[in-house]
Amino acid sequence: MAVERVSKRYIAGGAPLAALERLDLRVAPGEFVSLLGPSGAGKSTLLNLVAGLETPEEGRVCVEGMEVGRSSGAPPIAYMQQKDLLLPWRTVWDNVLLGPELRSGAERERLSPRARSLLAEFGLEGFAAAWPAELSGGMRQRAALIRTLLCEQPVLLLDEPFGALDAITRGRLQRHLARLWRELNKTVLLVTHDVDEALLLSTRVVLLGGPPGRIEEDLALPPGGPSAAELGPLRAHVLQRLDALTPAAP
Ligand SMILES: Nc1ncnc2c1ncn2[C@@H]1O[C@H](COP(=O)(O)OP(=O)(O)OP(=O)(O)O)[C@@H](O)[C@H]1O
Ligand SMILES: [Mg+2]
Repeated sequence: MAVERVSKRYIAGGAPLAALERLDLRVAPGEFVSLLGPSGAGKSTLLNLVAGLETPEEGRVCVEGMEVGRSSGAPPIAYMQQKDLLLPWRTVWDNVLLGPELRSGAERERLSPRARSLLAEFGLEGFAAAWPAELSGGMRQRAALIRTLLCEQPVLLLDEPFGALDAITRGRLQRHLARLWRELNKTVLLVTHDVDEALLLSTRVVLLGGPPGRIEEDLALPPGGPSAAELGPLRAHVLQRLDALTPAAP
């Protein structure tokens, strides 16, 4: 995935706002990159551009050799947005199988057993027939993550996928994601506000400051993840950089 000199501007509150300014980011196939940065730095904007939901004013984005927005067809991406965007008129079961169903009825059939096992693994087995409005925030988030995983795309964009979860469920799903990444060789771009999550799951941690969003640090982590002895100093370093990047409260 290559983001090349990408700029994105909005009108916010009646005034122009530069959300991203000539941002460059490369993620090699099979990498797991976490994006950390203060609220408003442009993390979700960056993911929206990679997914082709927004168009940059300048620069370009390529995914698996396809230029997003120019090549025909959707980029080979599964995107879990910050807002879960479950369809309120479909049950949990029909929501999680949306991606396969859009491909074909046969795909929906093929992935049904996997949907069932993910619902069980994520603690939602009793809720397949429930409507999204009947779920808690954390349950909705788990359903949205299952829907994303069932898209079976090589590139995963995850925007704070564990933000609404309790600590135990969060740990379990982090381990599930780590296993999936190792076993299926996915490329992952994860937005999180949790420094330990970023340090424990990723091959690289990218710190974004802004707006306008710009990369302040691109930190490669030791192969196999930081050791217990390395974790403390890395955590302290990232927290100190994030503190410096976060605007003071008015
Ligand atoms: N659709 C939009 N219209 C206008 N302004 C927008 C839009 N989307 C984002 N912005 C602005 O762009 C900036 C970056 O927003 P973005 O959602 O990318 O931040 P973020 O880093 O994901 O923050 P958070 O951690 O709070 O989710 C913000 O100042 C926001 O107000
Ligand atoms: Mg965001």
